[in-house]
Amino acid sequence: MSKYIIINNKIKKFDKKIEVDGDKSLSIRFALLASQAIGKSTAYNLLKSEDVFSVVNCLKKLGVKIRWNKKNNLCEIIGNGLNSYAYKKNLILNGNNSGTCVRLLTSLLINSPEKIKITGDKSLSKRDMKRITEPLSKFGASFYPKNKSTLPLYIKGSNYLTPIHYLELKGSSQCKSGVMLASLLTEGETIIKCKPSRNHTEHLFKYLKIPIKIKKKNNFEIIKIKGKKNFNSFKYIIPGDISSSAFFIVLTLLSKNSKLIIKKVGVNKSRTGVIDILNKMGAKILLKNKKNYKGEKIADIHVKSSKSLKSINCPTKLNTSAIDEFLIIFLAAAKAKGISYFKNLEELNKKESKRLDWGSKILKMIGIKNKLIGNHGIKIWGRPNLILNKNYEIKNYLKDHRVMAMSTIAALTLGGKWKIHDSDSINTSFPSFFNILQKDLGLKIYR
Ligand code: S3P
Repeated sequence: MSKYIIINNKIKKFDKKIEVDGDKSLSIRFALLASQAIGKSTAYNLLKSEDVFSVVNCLKKLGVKIRWNKKNNLCEIIGNGLNSYAYKKNLILNGNNSGTCVRLLTSLLINSPEKIKITGDKSLSKRDMKRITEPLSKFGASFYPKNKSTLPLYIKGSNYLTPIHYLELKGSSQCKSGVMLASLLTEGETIIKCKPSRNHTEHLFKYLKIPIKIKKKNNFEIIKIKGKKNFNSFKYIIPGDISSSAFFIVLTLLSKNSKLIIKKVGVNKSRTGVIDILNKMGAKILLKNKKNYKGEKIADIHVKSSKSLKSINCPTKLNTSAIDEFLIIFLAAAKAKGISYFKNLEELNKKESKRLDWGSKILKMIGIKNKLIGNHGIKIWGRPNLILNKNYEIKNYLKDHRVMAMSTIAALTLGGKWKIHDSDSINTSFPSFFNILQKDLGLKIYR
């Protein structure tokens, strides 16, 4: 039975400081790299969400020892170096809802002597895996059934891996990071030419002293990695997730007379497109108390209600750095003065659900005129004075956590009576979402 919430009140004005849960991308990368390091690695504030649990459970099945002390907020992972997974017969690894789990973890299995079955939930089983099985096949791994591009899939690795030259044109960090992880297991130099995308894996490789060189060339990055070099265990503090923060940023912008500080958030430039876009729309979001941490940037995000957002012709160069935030950006555009355009976003319909289509559907439902531009964009006619007073229902059958969170923020800022199904989907990425709304921001939600 799907869980649902009822919201029939807008949020009252607030002036608060909050912390959001740990960054999902960094949490998954920490776990995977720690599993290949030599010795005990420790993460503080690792995200305790279902996507990260999927990674941890898969690693445990591969024989990796993991102790998670949730009271101290510490997770310890004991690695035995490269090529140290214990491959049992008939192993099944389930990524559940997490594309990052499956695409990155599979890359560390390209030397498995056993056939491993990789599965996922209904949403993940619809998503394209060719984007990762193709480059991994070039390293020498085999996938079955041949030419199948969706899960379930079987992988069998090889003893004779060869480094590859890989061209990445989607701006996908999952593809780039997958190839980077595969290169660790492969003797020789792997060369990646890629469109810029989130660069946490690069920062971690540098911090771990894995031999990596990165150059910029025109609009591409060239990454060269020398494989088969063991690296030592490490300690890491996971900052707050900018993708989770984005919902609270827009909540504040669209609420009256409110202020919010979100403490200790990861503000790596390859992730802060949402702030750049909202500031171009007239928001005044500030980053204060900036710090550098092992290659990453951390800051407190300061945001205030906005009296007047304006429309945007969104520069496509910001697309990859805001890729998970477009649903909530569309909501801001719905309340902005003028017509907004978002283009070259074909990747958006390839996420946990078809998010471009969802954006259009939810905006239509609340009376915001919009038009899809081919399969890659959307034109939104903003209505700054939009106030809702009808009943709205969101049935999110692929349980997309970001559809759920965006609908909740719409309900809290626009009014009307909302019934939002599959509210537990938030546990995929942001388990404290409702707690923050209720305990920190004083909201009443009926479940
Ligand atoms: C992620 C990269 C993005 C993003 C996903 C997490 C990552 O996917 O949408 O939620 O951690 O590398 P793509 O790299 O495929 O765009």
